[in-house]
Amino acid sequence: METPSAACCRRRRQLQPPSLLFLCLLLSALCLRPGLGVNTVNTVYGDTIILPCRIEVPDDLMFGKWKYEIANKAPVFIAFRSATKKNVQYDNVPEYKDRLSLSENYTLSINNARIGDERRFVCMLVTEDNVFEEPTIVKLFKQPSQPEIVNRAKFLETEQLKTLGECITKDGYPEGNIMWYKNGIVLQPVEGTVVITERTNVDKASELFTVISSLDYMPTKEDTNAQFICTVTYFGPTGQETIRSESVVFDIHYPTEKVKIQVLSQKNTIKEGDNVTLECSGNGNPPPQEFLFYIPGEPEPIRSPSLYVLADVRRNATGEYRCSLTDESLTDSTIITVHYLDLSLTPSGEVTKRIGEALLVTCTISSSRNATVFWSKDNTRMRTSPSFSSLQYQDAGNYICETTLQEVEGLKKRQTLTLIVEGKPQIKMSKKTSTDGSFKLISCNVEGFPKPAVQWISSGSIINKAKETRYINGRFSSRIRIAPEENVTLTCMAENTLERTMTSLNVSAISIPEYDEPDDRSDDNRGKINDQTKLIVGIVVGLLLAALVAGVVYWLYMKKSKDVNGESEKEAAQNSQTLLRAKGEVHGVHRAASKHVDKDLGNIEENKKLEENNHKLEA
Ligand SMILES: *[C@@H]1O[C@H](CO)[C@@H](O)[C@H](O)[C@H]1NC(C)=O
Ligand SMILES: *[C@@H]1O[C@H](CO)[C@@H](O)[C@H](O)[C@H]1NC(C)=O
Ligand SMILES: *[C@@H]1O[C@H](CO)[C@@H](O)[C@H](O)[C@H]1NC(C)=O
Ligand SMILES: *[C@@H]1O[C@H](CO)[C@@H](O)[C@H](O)[C@H]1NC(C)=O
Ligand SMILES: *[C@@H]1O[C@H](CO)[C@@H](O)[C@H](O)[C@H]1NC(C)=O
Ligand SMILES: *[C@@H]1O[C@H](CO)[C@@H](O)[C@H](O)[C@H]1NC(C)=O
Repeated sequence: METPSAACCRRRRQLQPPSLLFLCLLLSALCLRPGLGVNTVNTVYGDTIILPCRIEVPDDLMFGKWKYEIANKAPVFIAFRSATKKNVQYDNVPEYKDRLSLSENYTLSINNARIGDERRFVCMLVTEDNVFEEPTIVKLFKQPSQPEIVNRAKFLETEQLKTLGECITKDGYPEGNIMWYKNGIVLQPVEGTVVITERTNVDKASELFTVISSLDYMPTKEDTNAQFICTVTYFGPTGQETIRSESVVFDIHYPTEKVKIQVLSQKNTIKEGDNVTLECSGNGNPPPQEFLFYIPGEPEPIRSPSLYVLADVRRNATGEYRCSLTDESLTDSTIITVHYLDLSLTPSGEVTKRIGEALLVTCTISSSRNATVFWSKDNTRMRTSPSFSSLQYQDAGNYICETTLQEVEGLKKRQTLTLIVEGKPQIKMSKKTSTDGSFKLISCNVEGFPKPAVQWISSGSIINKAKETRYINGRFSSRIRIAPEENVTLTCMAENTLERTMTSLNVSAISIPEYDEPDDRSDDNRGKINDQTKLIVGIVVGLLLAALVAGVVYWLYMKKSKDVNGESEKEAAQNSQTLLRAKGEVHGVHRAASKHVDKDLGNIEENKKLEENNHKLEA
């Protein structure tokens, strides 16, 4: 049997270099704690105690015996072996009944070691003339259970000494020692802050120790998340050992020292119509659940949980918002600005005006910040705001006045003006003859809003074959083609909700080819003058042709006459006029005329004379 110190030493030699032998010896001395110089046997509770006799067996040995000694009492013999008869006897000691075994070399084994076995046993070897005795002390060890923190506090409070919990370690021997640790640092008792109370229970049957250490603790805020453990330190057969409990974290309650008010919003700015959520919070643990909210315009503070919603805020909600703990002790405040943007367009909506009237349009804005106004007409951006001193049809349309606040997301306003420009129908007529003279194109150019309906009337009957151009900016034309066989009067009638109006135009028959006239002409009298001019030209041509015929006749007559050179040119002209009279026809005459008359074709003065003569001839 080796001593614990030897065991201890051997084990350490395996683990450490020989140079540490000295340290090992020192530890051995510690291991030999009880009964220096006395044989000691260390046994774990429940194991078999083996007690060697430790005396050299003499040759003349008669018998050997084992006894145990208790202070101030007679020793108690428990086993006997005869060296000669080789038999073994165990004394009738109830404590050791069926537990003993004495071997031939006088080593005594005691099974199922108990705490009561921790005593001094003595081996006796008896010869004829001598008695040898050698005592051995039995030491027992039992490892206690892993310490456990029980009866834990649900929470701890700053400034309050409270039982944190109890550390319990059961069934150990000898009695272990409990220590408390916070974050790995041992907790030393401090009056009023750290109070450790320990008690020990001994089990009557097993005589094992149960140690309970109670810790009263006053935490600080910093103890939030601190790890508490307890340990038990005890002696085992090979020396001092320590077992740790699991670590425990306690909820530390502390009061609020600061409150904070915040506006919860994804956006940086608040505009009218937004819902604003205010959050009030305190930094205590547990955090405060209720607050008082001081809302501008509310006479009394409002008791509410940490969130308070201002729904659909208006500009008058701009102001300072405060919140406090319910005892009004701590407060915080914040400023809320509710942005707004108003736009007013006058006139707006659908507005109907007469052509030529003036219209004043104003778009005014009022806003929490500088805002810009934009105008558009029929979806096209305008450079300037509209202004009308005299309304035209093309002024009609959809006007939009729009404004945005750049800094405030989503703040945008617009208003619309739908402008209608009304006007009575106005008519201008014109006519044009086709280049080949086969037909005439009569146009009725109409202006007015709402769009006038056009009707053509000729000699009291309606003409249906009119074609219309597109109606743009209050204007369009209705056109008809005609080839009248006689002079006609065409009437264009235009009518809208405001008025009915009509204009007439005299169109001459198509039989006489006419020259193209300028397009935009409604003046019928001018047309008549033109007709007369054409007529005169026709007459002149006729006269010239007649003169030519007369010339030819004269030339033939002169050939017959003796006095060929006696006749003057004037006489020749008179003769031609006489001839014309004979004919009695001016229009469309195709006869010969003199070269001289041909020369004066462009002279209007002479043409007029000729015409007068012609009339005289006709009369
Ligand atoms: C004595 O005998 C037992 C069993 O017979 C044996 O285990 C033990 O080693 C012996 N002791 C000595 C000191 O010889
Ligand atoms: C504000 O809250 C009301 C009711 O909860 C909701 O109907 C409305 O849509 C919210 N308004 C905005 C701008 O989110
Ligand atoms: C703010 O104005 C609204 C109307 O726009 C009114 O209903 C409300 O009472 C006003 N609130 C305050 C605090 O003046
Ligand atoms: C608004 O406009 C005025 C004058 O145009 C200017 O003095 C002022 O600084 C502007 N304010 C902001 C916030 O832009
Ligand atoms: C037709 O009008 C023309 C003048 O435009 C006139 O000279 C002519 O005599 C008229 N004819 C008839 C049949 O009325
Ligand atoms: C058209 O002719 C008629 C006679 O046929 C005359 O009374 C009227 O004034 C003429 N109208 C125009 C526009 O010249």
